[in-house]
Amino acid sequence: MSKEGKLNKINLSVIRDMKSRNEKIAMITAYDYPTAKIVDEAGVDIILVGDSLGMVVLGYDSTLPVTMEDMIHHTKAAVRGTERAMVIVDMPFMSYQVSCEEALQNAGRLMKESGAHGVKLEGGREIADTIRKIVAAGIPVMAHLGLTPQSVHQLGGYKVQGKKEPEAKRMMEDAAIVQEAGAFLLILECVPVKLAFEITASLDIPTVGIGAGVGCDGQVLVLHDMLGFYDRFVPKFVKKYAALSDNVRSAVNQYVKEVKESTFPDDAHSFR
Ligand code: KIV
Repeated sequence: MSKEGKLNKINLSVIRDMKSRNEKIAMITAYDYPTAKIVDEAGVDIILVGDSLGMVVLGYDSTLPVTMEDMIHHTKAAVRGTERAMVIVDMPFMSYQVSCEEALQNAGRLMKESGAHGVKLEGGREIADTIRKIVAAGIPVMAHLGLTPQSVHQLGGYKVQGKKEPEAKRMMEDAAIVQEAGAFLLILECVPVKLAFEITASLDIPTVGIGAGVGCDGQVLVLHDMLGFYDRFVPKFVKKYAALSDNVRSAVNQYVKEVKESTFPDDAHSFR
C-alpha cells in the first residue's frame, strides 16, 4: 500500500516478496480494455493475456490457431485498461518452438508492440535454452508445466498430468530446470495436489496453480470460465463466481421484447 492508500504497482520484486511473505498471488486472464480495467481495479496481481482467448473469445476448438497478431491486438487493449497489475502475454503456438533466435525475436515483438511486462511459454527442459535467451535480453519469462494446452494433441486431451511416478518425477525436474533457466514464476495446470505442493516447496520462484490445489503460491483462472461466460467446456477445477451468459441472455431477451413492443425507447431515453 502506498502513502496515498493506493495498492502498489506489481513488478518482479513484488512477486518475489509475495512468495517470501507467503502472500498468495491472484492472477486472472483478460483480453480487452474493459475486462482488464475491472480485474485490475478488483485487485488482481497479474493479468494473463492467455492464448485461451482463441477458445473463449475467438471461438476456436483449441489454442493452436492463435497468431502473434491476435496476441498483440488483445494485449494492447488489456494494457490500456491496466494500472496496477503486471500484464503477461502468452507466446502463441509455433512462435517459440522453431529456434531460440525466432523465439527471442517474437518475444521482443510482443513486448515492443503490446506493452506487456513479460511473456509466458509452455514447456520444460526442451525450452530451457529459449527461456535463458529471452531472460538474458531483459524480458521476464513465466513458465507453464502440467497440462500445456498447446500440446493437447500429444497429451491426448485436456487431462490431469503427473499422476504416474515417472511423469511426476519428470515434472519435478522440469520445474527445477525452468527455474534455473531464469523463469520468474511457474504455472502448474491440472496437476495432482500433492505433486503441486512438492514442486512449490522445492522452488524459490512462486508457483501459480490452475487445477493444482491450494498448495501453490497463487491461483489463476480463465475469466470467461469463472464468470460463467463460456460454457462450451467447463473443467472440473473451475469455480463459477457468476452466471454471466444467463444474465446477458435475459437482458438481451428483454431488450428484443421491448423493441418489438415499442416500449423502448421510452420518454426517459428520448430527446424532446
Ligand atoms: O492461456 C491461458 O489462459 C493459460 C492459463 C490457463 C494459465 O495459459
